[in-house]
Amino acid sequence: MEDELVRLKSVALKALDSIEEPDALEPFRVRYLGRKGEFTLLMRKLGQAAPDDRPRLGKLANDTRKEVEGAFDAKKSELSGADNGKRSGAAPQTDLTLPGRAVPFGKLHPVTQIMEQVCGIFEGLGFAVAEGPDVETDFYNFEALNIPKHHPARDMHDTFYISGSVLLRTHTSPMQIRAMKEKPPPLRMIAPGKVYRCDSDITHTPMFHQVEGFLVDRKVSFSDLKGVLTVFIAKMFDKDTPIRFRPSFFPFTEPSAEVDIGCVICKGKGCRVCKQTGWLEILGAGMIDPEVFKMVGYDPEEYTGFAFGLGVERIAMLKYGINDIRLFYENDLRFLSQF
Ligand code: PHE
Repeated sequence: MEDELVRLKSVALKALDSIEEPDALEPFRVRYLGRKGEFTLLMRKLGQAAPDDRPRLGKLANDTRKEVEGAFDAKKSELSGADNGKRSGAAPQTDLTLPGRAVPFGKLHPVTQIMEQVCGIFEGLGFAVAEGPDVETDFYNFEALNIPKHHPARDMHDTFYISGSVLLRTHTSPMQIRAMKEKPPPLRMIAPGKVYRCDSDITHTPMFHQVEGFLVDRKVSFSDLKGVLTVFIAKMFDKDTPIRFRPSFFPFTEPSAEVDIGCVICKGKGCRVCKQTGWLEILGAGMIDPEVFKMVGYDPEEYTGFAFGLGVERIAMLKYGINDIRLFYENDLRFLSQF
């Protein structure tokens, strides 16, 4: 029995030694240390030994078993330590089948997109782009545009004043004056930018965008204005969008017109957007008033020119079918990400 104990111990320790995976520990425990394991079977044979030898053999069997149990526990903690190292170590397990994280990327604001489109069309027609200050003086915004103080035409603009003669420009037309004062004719320019009016409802915001356009040279006529705007509208909207020039009034143009296009929503049949008229107003225009030329030192006998101003938000609303101008300025991503 003594020999058998020695043999069993060496077989068990060798088997334990060759274990490398935690999964192999339990089968080992069952086989050698379990209730029906090899050690238990061997100890049952103790009854067959001579009575005198029994105490000594019993102790030896117990000690041997404890030794193997000790080695088993050591192996167990060694393997669980190695396993922890694997899970929390420098190389964590990565699930390569997980979907990747999308990189969110921004887009230009719809108003900026339309503004770039408008400028692009006019640049294609040979117009130069210029920008001017949002904070203007009374002179550039009104006086030089033939809108004297106390003239009823000032009522057309609800002005934000900064001080007596400094204000937030109410339109981009002051850029006509700045450009003409700086350069002699010929002139062919557009001026995009922000304008401000004390006004707020579903079709008006206190700040909005305009693009001003003007052309000055010898022998410029109203038909040149019509030609340029017809090309612009065909490129901006549908190729065969109907256009009409309606007589109007601006202090700085004479004659003046408002330009309508056939309603893009109902195609001219009449709907809520065009107030059943079949037409939508999209810009103001006219031949530059001789009084304005005198203000900037151009000779009105020698030069003529046209000017126009269009609202960028208005064009964006018509193109995209947006019914509330305030949506442009709420910065709601659900709105903005559609463009
Ligand atoms: N400045 C005018 C407005 O804001 C538009 C306009 C510009 C009209 C140029 C005629 C010529 O209403």
